[in-house]
Formats: sequence, structure tokens, C-alpha cells
Amino acid sequence: MSEQEEMRDRPIGVFDSGVGGLTVAREIMRQLPNERIVYFGDTARVPYGSKSPETITRFSRQIARFLQTQNVKAIVIACNSASSCAVEALEQEVDLPILDVVRPGAKTAVSVTKNNKIGVIATEATIGSGIYSRYINEQDADAMVLSKACPLFVPLVEEGLWEDPVTDEIARRYLSELIDVGIDTLILGCTHYPIICSTIGRIMGEGVTLVNPAYETARELKRLLQEKGLESGHRPGLGTELYRFFVSDAADKFQKFANSILTYGILSAKVINIDEY
Ligand code: DGL
Repeated sequence: MSEQEEMRDRPIGVFDSGVGGLTVAREIMRQLPNERIVYFGDTARVPYGSKSPETITRFSRQIARFLQTQNVKAIVIACNSASSCAVEALEQEVDLPILDVVRPGAKTAVSVTKNNKIGVIATEATIGSGIYSRYINEQDADAMVLSKACPLFVPLVEEGLWEDPVTDEIARRYLSELIDVGIDTLILGCTHYPIICSTIGRIMGEGVTLVNPAYETARELKRLLQEKGLESGHRPGLGTELYRFFVSDAADKFQKFANSILTYGILSAKVINIDEY
């Protein structure tokens, strides 16, 4: 087997602060069914969204080191908070293609908006970094970006309150100022938000297009792998584990959540000590 063929057969490393990145992994599974995935969820240290950029970058570096021990061919930062704070550090330090979830969503939002008013909802860390506004305005300096941190959405999703009057009420409060400004495009800038997209979509109304960065990231990953000649050309053979999951704590809880959103049932998640990396 040539070196290039060996490279193509390697898995993609995907990481998140916990379970949220599974919405990104799910899109990669759908759009790139030949690719193997090694997923790491930092369940011991979640949430990242309320932490400082320095801490998030330190955690992300450790995880990138762990993923490299798993022989991955590329790394997807499947967490908006980690993408916002750590992408530049990882791009400089890791000798592998690195893909974040922010750029693909920002790019799509610029291409779909008609009135140039784009809303971004995300964690405090992502909104505080200003990264969505930066990427959007790099492509269109006239675009108006209205950002809103929605910290309660993550626990609501993790509590399973996907269709619930409580989630409805909180969403109405968070989203009212975006509605008042008249945005026509809304980026779901946190891994958990696509899970409650029907609630968000209903409240925003039909005139607002929701952009799901998880979907856009999987598309961008496909393009990147093709460009670099790294796309796996075949379904891995029998006996090869297609998807492997690692966490830093509470594997049972992770597995339960994963099985509620992935069509592919995960067999097990292995706990590792991420501080060793
Ligand atoms: N995965 C995080 C994100 O997309 C949300 C959960 C957290 O705060 O860690 O920003």
C-alpha cells in the first residue's frame, strides 16, 4: 500500500467539549459514509462556552495531541467555542489539515442573506470572541451582524427538553431582539442548537433561513479531503471499526445521548485521561 493510500484510510479526528459535536459527526457520517471517525468528547470539562479563551485553547491543544496518537488524517474542531478560541493555535502547531465549524457557517450565511442582516446565536465564549462577525465582515464589509449569547440552550438540550414550553419561552426571550431587527438569516452557532432547530425556526418565522454549521462543515470537509487527495475511496472492510468514541468522563451518559441522536448505535465510549496529553 502506498503512503498516500495509507493516509486515505486513516480516520478523521473530531472533537468537542462533550456531546454537542455529535451533531457534526452525524453530518460527516451522512455525507462521507466511507470515512472512519475517532471522536473525542471532553465530558469531564464541559462546558467550554463559559470558559476563558486561554483555558479552551489549552484543552484543545491536549485533545489535538491525543487525536494525533490515533493516527488521524485531519482534525475537525466540532465545537464552536473551541473553534472560536483555538483554531489559529492548532493551525500553527499541528501538521494536519484543521477544519473549524465557524468559517463554513459564516460563508454560507453571507451567500444566503438577501437583506444583509445576519443573526448569530452561540455560547458566551463564541460571541465574546467576535469571530463570526469577523469572518462575515471579511467577506462582506456591509453585512450587519447581530450576535446573541444563549447560554440556557445547552442545558435545555442536554436535559432532553427539545420540544417543551420551557424551551419555547426561553427561545422567545433570546430571539426577540433578532426578530425586531429583521434579520433574514440566523446561524445556529453552537453544536447543540440544530437539535432544537424546529423550535428556533418556528419562533423566527418562515422568512428567516437557519444556517446549520454542522451541515456546512461536513460539506467543507468533503471538499478539503478531495482537494488534498485524502478522501477514502471505499467503505472500510469488515472487522474495521468505523467509528470510535472517547470521552474524559461519564461514558454511560455520553452513550445514552449519542444513541438518542445518531442513527448508528454506538457500541461503547472509552474513558481516557486527557491530562496525560
Ligand atoms: N460545544 C459547545 C459549542 O458549540 C457548546 C457546549 C459547551 O459550552 O461546551 O460552543
